[in-house]
Amino acid sequence: MTLEVFILNGPNLNLLGTREPGVYGTLTLADIEASCRAKAAEVGFGEVEFHQSNHEGQLIDWIHEAGRRKAGVVINPGAYTHTSIALHDAIKGTGVPLIEVHISNVHARESFRHHSYVSPVAAGVIVGLGPRGYTLALEALAEIMSK
Ligand code: DQA
Repeated sequence: MTLEVFILNGPNLNLLGTREPGVYGTLTLADIEASCRAKAAEVGFGEVEFHQSNHEGQLIDWIHEAGRRKAGVVINPGAYTHTSIALHDAIKGTGVPLIEVHISNVHARESFRHHSYVSPVAAGVIVGLGPRGYTLALEALAEIMSK
């Protein structure tokens, strides 16, 4: 069976490269996509869907699609991490294996970033390791899904 992964990015992550470079670095989302595609192939994912949206419902639709396709998910939900019960419910309702990634160390930032609605329904969370978090997440997800 072909292993498939959806790599999803929430609001404002399309601005990576120019958005608060002191916090998020200078790599663009296209740079991150390229390193994710290389890592995904290396760890055995035959198919990769890489998406970004500024809209909560769109992210939820992709999670549903991942569930239907029995794919895994790596998601950086951006600020929806801290607000979205709907994302929590979508992950729980589909049962997708999912890893939550944050480029910055949200726990070292404002207190409103300390709570995540996604973490309780994630298989794991990678925080504060920069864009490398995405490729680390792919390694872990491939291992989880091959069990
Ligand atoms: C982020 C952290 C969130 O608090 C923030 O709203 C983002 C990016 C990160 O990758 O560090 O948009 O998810």
